[in-house]
Amino acid sequence: MTTSAKKDHWSAAKYDSAASFVPKLTSTVVSYLDVQAKDRVLDIGCGDGQLTAQIAQSASSGEVLGLDASQSFISTAQEKHTTRSCAFKLQNCTKLAECKEAVDGGWDKVFSNAALHWILRNPKTRQEVFRNAQQALKSGGKLVFEMGGKGNVAEIQAAFTAALIHAGLSVDDARAANPWFFPSVDWMTQTLSEVGFEVEKCEYEYRPTKLNPENDEKTGGLEGWLRLMGAQFLEAVEERKREGVLREVCDVLETVVTREEDGSKWIGYVRLRAIARKK
Ligand SMILES: C[S@@+](CC[C@H](N)C(=O)[O-])C[C@H]1O[C@@H](n2cnc3c(N)ncnc32)[C@H](O)[C@@H]1O
Repeated sequence: MTTSAKKDHWSAAKYDSAASFVPKLTSTVVSYLDVQAKDRVLDIGCGDGQLTAQIAQSASSGEVLGLDASQSFISTAQEKHTTRSCAFKLQNCTKLAECKEAVDGGWDKVFSNAALHWILRNPKTRQEVFRNAQQALKSGGKLVFEMGGKGNVAEIQAAFTAALIHAGLSVDDARAANPWFFPSVDWMTQTLSEVGFEVEKCEYEYRPTKLNPENDEKTGGLEGWLRLMGAQFLEAVEERKREGVLREVCDVLETVVTREEDGSKWIGYVRLRAIARKK
């Protein structure tokens, strides 16, 4: 079993407070997956398994395996969503080839939602991730995914980068703290083609997304989203500076994300979705 050596920032409770909309706003990508009853589906970066379990219900006589690098999420997924045909395994998906049951060439579909922008962060392992997805698939099988596309949460990336520079980091170090890779449609189409996929669809959607309500535990609203999703930005500075960085980011973004009519907060999600077939 391969685990990520990095700190585990995830927990199902925090995810529910800060980002419960992520596995829910998926009707388009799930429709592209077009799950059939007998399908074998591999879910890369499955998180706490909510969406994986939904897919498994459609693949009622098939098999679904969810992989994720977070021990906390995998434990929750195993506890809540394991069934005869739905299983979960701890796996760093930048090293998918180490999971022999994943790369056995027997999967009808490889799926991923909101995870590849983390998994593809390191330029050196990007092509390998797609090569492994191809190895996992049967001939004619489909890779179907949604992730952040170029310009995703641009306001948040800019505010975090500036706040880290103000806290004393060099420009290069502040940029390096960004945990995400948000590719363009052109980059994605070219990369999938280079690896040997036939790209059936690769598209963007600008989808402003309403944040969950704030709460006393500071795990909801903008602050909760920033604490959970932006944990790696915050960890780039000493602990004593983290609350100050967070405060600055929240202050900078306040008017950018708040709607005057009702005070609700919206951030600029840009989704990139693709369907690629193994030839
Ligand atoms: C925003 S969550 C999405 C979870 C789930 N797919 C959903 O739709 O709710 C991003 C997930 O990517 C996972 N992830 C990040 N880097 C990973 C890696 N290298 N290997 C496997 N999973 C990874 C995280 O642990 C987290 O569960």
